[in-house]
Amino acid sequence: MGKQYIEASEDTETSKQLFLRALKVIPGGVSHNVRYYPPYPVFIERCKGSKIWDVDGNCYIDYWMGHYAHIMGHSYPEVVEAVTKFIRERGYHFGLVNREEVELAELILSVLDEFEMVRFCTSGSDAGSFAVRLARAYTGKNKVLKVRGGWHGASTDLIKGSSYPFEEKESLGILDNVYENVILMPFNDWEETERIIEENKNDIACAIVEPVLGSGGFIPADKDYLVNLRKKLEEIGALLIFDEVITGFRVSLKGYYGYIGVVPHILTIGKIVGGGFPIGVIVSTRDIMELSSRERSKPSRVLIGGGTFSCNPVSMVAGLTVIKRLISDGDKIYPSLANLTEKLRNGIEEVAKSKGIKVRTTGVGSLFKVHILKVDADIKSADDVYRYTYWEEVDGEYRSYLAKHGVNMVHLCGAISYAHTNEDVEETIKVFDEFFSWLRERI
Ligand SMILES: Cc1ncc(COP(=O)(O)O)c(C=O)c1O
Repeated sequence: MGKQYIEASEDTETSKQLFLRALKVIPGGVSHNVRYYPPYPVFIERCKGSKIWDVDGNCYIDYWMGHYAHIMGHSYPEVVEAVTKFIRERGYHFGLVNREEVELAELILSVLDEFEMVRFCTSGSDAGSFAVRLARAYTGKNKVLKVRGGWHGASTDLIKGSSYPFEEKESLGILDNVYENVILMPFNDWEETERIIEENKNDIACAIVEPVLGSGGFIPADKDYLVNLRKKLEEIGALLIFDEVITGFRVSLKGYYGYIGVVPHILTIGKIVGGGFPIGVIVSTRDIMELSSRERSKPSRVLIGGGTFSCNPVSMVAGLTVIKRLISDGDKIYPSLANLTEKLRNGIEEVAKSKGIKVRTTGVGSLFKVHILKVDADIKSADDVYRYTYWEEVDGEYRSYLAKHGVNMVHLCGAISYAHTNEDVEETIKVFDEFFSWLRERI
């Protein structure tokens, strides 16, 4: 069961028993590694607004928000209403075309109006793989540039270099030539990135970038970095893909590309756009997207197999509900999320300072990460996170401590939702105050 950082508590006995059962039937006890923390994760009974409750009735302020899929909070009443009405009256999985998928495609493109077409699949991982496939077909080249520490899901194509140490193979079972066709580049370091591009310029199909590096630390890309990258890629006949699976519709209606003003050739989105249900979306211009049309046949087509559950009407209806709300109330919602997040970040930094703990927060809008520093340093890339911060403890003893004190935070990161309140933030700052006292004795 790994290192026992914190004594299991009687308060979570039911979770402990469930985890012991899970260990017997699921390798490591979880189906997504990020959901584990020591000594065992609490099992969730229900969620509402900014809160989750475990199977023993303990309540947590939640900053994970379903892998950041919920911008309006858990169990957003409008989505619950729309989805339950749909299921009751019309069903839940047709596996055939439906009106709602056309409406969601039109709605997405009415906001992301630099683009012309979308294609739906069932996860952000699929969207990333298909985007790369499109880029390779469009350019006739093979190599993909990917950021060190970038996470586009665990797909065979894009898993390389996701976790530290980045040079080590991420997974058994992936062929060497798959790894060889992905080249890692350092985030926010233009000189080195340019050198790598020059070295491989005849073979590069695309660069795929989370413009706000997610699991690498919610670190925003510098505008110049993205502008240079796009320009250089165009010079060599390659495409820029932004993976905005987390940031799409979260940091602004137009995601980070709209926020910073750099438009990629292909965009992938997911999470929020499915209103809390499974989705992935590839978004681009007609010339690129048409390569995936059913009207093209082998060998001149790109196969995007959307999947059994692609465009399932539940995801479409939930997505329509949330995106319509964001369009109508975005002027109020986005500034409110950003203000509350700033309050939390400032509060955490202040209590850290008062306890003599070196802390820096990064993020954009409602996304944030708390870095506990070993030395004073700017955090501009995933490499900086591993060089300068206490990262090994983050999803171990730090996460356990916070959970035990009523705060659910994964990677010391979070996403504020519209359901979070001032009281949630004040309570969280109080927990961090105590956490830093506890930490002072340990680092
Ligand atoms: C930036 C980014 N891209 C892609 C993915 C993969 O999305 P999914 O988990 O829906 O496959 C994730 C998931 O966390 C993500 O954060």
